[in-house]
Amino acid sequence: ASSAELAPQSVDFTLDGRTLQAFEGETILKAARRHGVDIPHLCYQDGYRPDGNCRACVVEIQGERTLAPSCCRTATAGMQVQARSERALRSQKLVVEMLLSDMPDEGYRWIDGDAAQPHGELSAWAARLGIAVRPELRALRREPPAADASHPAMAVNLDACIQCNRCVRACREEQVNGVIGYALRGEHSQIVFDLGDALGESSCVACGECVQACPTGALSPKTRIGSQVVDRQVDSVCPFCGVGC
Ligand code: FES
Repeated sequence: ASSAELAPQSVDFTLDGRTLQAFEGETILKAARRHGVDIPHLCYQDGYRPDGNCRACVVEIQGERTLAPSCCRTATAGMQVQARSERALRSQKLVVEMLLSDMPDEGYRWIDGDAAQPHGELSAWAARLGIAVRPELRALRREPPAADASHPAMAVNLDACIQCNRCVRACREEQVNGVIGYALRGEHSQIVFDLGDALGESSCVACGECVQACPTGALSPKTRIGSQVVDRQVDSVCPFCGVGC
């Protein structure tokens, strides 16, 4: 085959008035990011199967009544997409505002004294979009679940979990471990390890994939084991997560 036949086919579409090229089958979000345009996203992570559950990435597509999740939607030839229209931005901001308002205080600490991360990607998107916690939403927060510090290398605080499903995909699809899943339904739905075990008593192999996937710090590396401070920058052999496996 000639090099022209082997080259990936591309299609032209417009994003906020700018013409971009997308590879055939590429999503709007991926194509936008490849061209240096970032659209808010939380449940999407490069390299993982898109899941489309957070709706932070919604865009307006001309001719369609409902907003579309750009992480799941394939860009097609001639498609006209608005990621920064008033309607799209209002929706993106509302998602981030609701999730941010339901986060634990930034100063929260693990029960064994380890400092937690200040909500990672969620806080970063909130800052970029100019979003602050809304007191009326914050007042609706439920009693937080207890933190789980039973694992020697990782800590779990489901109070900061936004159920983006990234850790589940990390564990099941990337590492094929199948330790993390969902239990219960609706507003009671939550992440569980095996059959609802404490992380330290589950079949977790401490690969750390879920920690690097978590966008809020609900799963985070422990920086201290007992009284010993652990410098994960040094003892981890994994280039991605810092858990230290
Ligand atoms: Fe697209 Fe979550 S990033 S729905």
